[in-house]
Amino acid sequence: MVKKVAILANGGDVSGFNAVIRAIVKTAEEKGVQCFGFIDGYRGLLKNEYVALSTSDSRKASGILPKGGSIIGSSTNANVFHYKVTELNGDVVYKDLSDICVENIKNDGFDCLFTLGGDGTQKSARDFSLKGINVIGVPKTIDNDVACTDITFGYNTAVSVASEALDRLHTTGETHHRIMVLEVMGRYAGWIALESAIAGGADVALIPEIPYDINKAVEKINHRRDMGKNFSIVVVAEGAVPKGGSMIIEGTRNNGIGVDNTKLGGIGNVVTKQLEELTGLEARCTVLGYMQRGGTPTAFDRVLSTKYGSKAMELALEGKFNVLTVIKDGKLDCVPLEDVVGNNKVIGAVSGNTAESNIRKVNMDHDLVKTARNIGICLGD
Ligand code: F6P
Repeated sequence: MVKKVAILANGGDVSGFNAVIRAIVKTAEEKGVQCFGFIDGYRGLLKNEYVALSTSDSRKASGILPKGGSIIGSSTNANVFHYKVTELNGDVVYKDLSDICVENIKNDGFDCLFTLGGDGTQKSARDFSLKGINVIGVPKTIDNDVACTDITFGYNTAVSVASEALDRLHTTGETHHRIMVLEVMGRYAGWIALESAIAGGADVALIPEIPYDINKAVEKINHRRDMGKNFSIVVVAEGAVPKGGSMIIEGTRNNGIGVDNTKLGGIGNVVTKQLEELTGLEARCTVLGYMQRGGTPTAFDRVLSTKYGSKAMELALEGKFNVLTVIKDGKLDCVPLEDVVGNNKVIGAVSGNTAESNIRKVNMDHDLVKTARNIGICLGD
């Protein structure tokens, strides 16, 4: 019998974290289950810092449906299985502190831990399940790259923000006869770039899954110019790569072992410069950045997050643990965490469906790819 549960939000924030938290709490309250939230993801679990969550307390899980961010924080650098510790002599070492977390969960009598996060978060969740903790994952990320689910919460809002940005770039680009390049997030997957390119009427979309030839984009832009269209809209995923080239990296973070320390970024400016040189048209770059993660979730994400949260609590009540809530072929379901992260030996691995990683990338027979090609969006190949 589940009587007391805890939630943690982990990894980069997305719009929809709070909607999931609220749905778990509301579903739990209906069944008389007590809810708590660890502060700042796995770090809170390690430090045993948590707050009670209830809808009767207006400062906590009530009135948060449209609110961006996470009311219980989140952490992007707390892999408790390889936790960065600075020793008294100043040496930095990495320690497996997961047993402390297990003790915290057991001592405080939590019957289930809900882990809201992406591939790294769910990998730790799976590892806690192997240590005897009941966990239920909820797939979060704007990148939409978690395996075994058709969609992650936060993604739709990111696409919507990028589409709105493209609408705005259209009018300024058209007025000044410019090529407007928008660099979007997405890590090693091109979902945000591809879907927003379709939603925002872009002419070119460059995604990591299709190494691009800049000359193909030039051809498309020149063809438009020949038709009297003196402006073009280009979406570039931060992980896009030129044929035979490599990804552009803004820097490397020192967030510890087992987390993605690569900070992507910069490809938008590279492409903009090349297009300006090769077409003779003026080009401008906009890097959308964290706008894609902040602020209020779309109605779609509110509903998706609510479905995911209530399903997660339902699974806990049924005693079905060590799974991830998913949407498969439009239906709410769950899959074993092992299926989701079993292959993810390297968090932040560039490839999907390999021995190292099974992050979900855009596959070439996906409707979005076909649709983009059908309507003449140049994908750089
Ligand atoms: O995974 C979500 C994401 O926003 C990626 O799209 C982006 O590459 C990365 O996180 C940025 O991470 P950080 O918040 O650590 O700068």
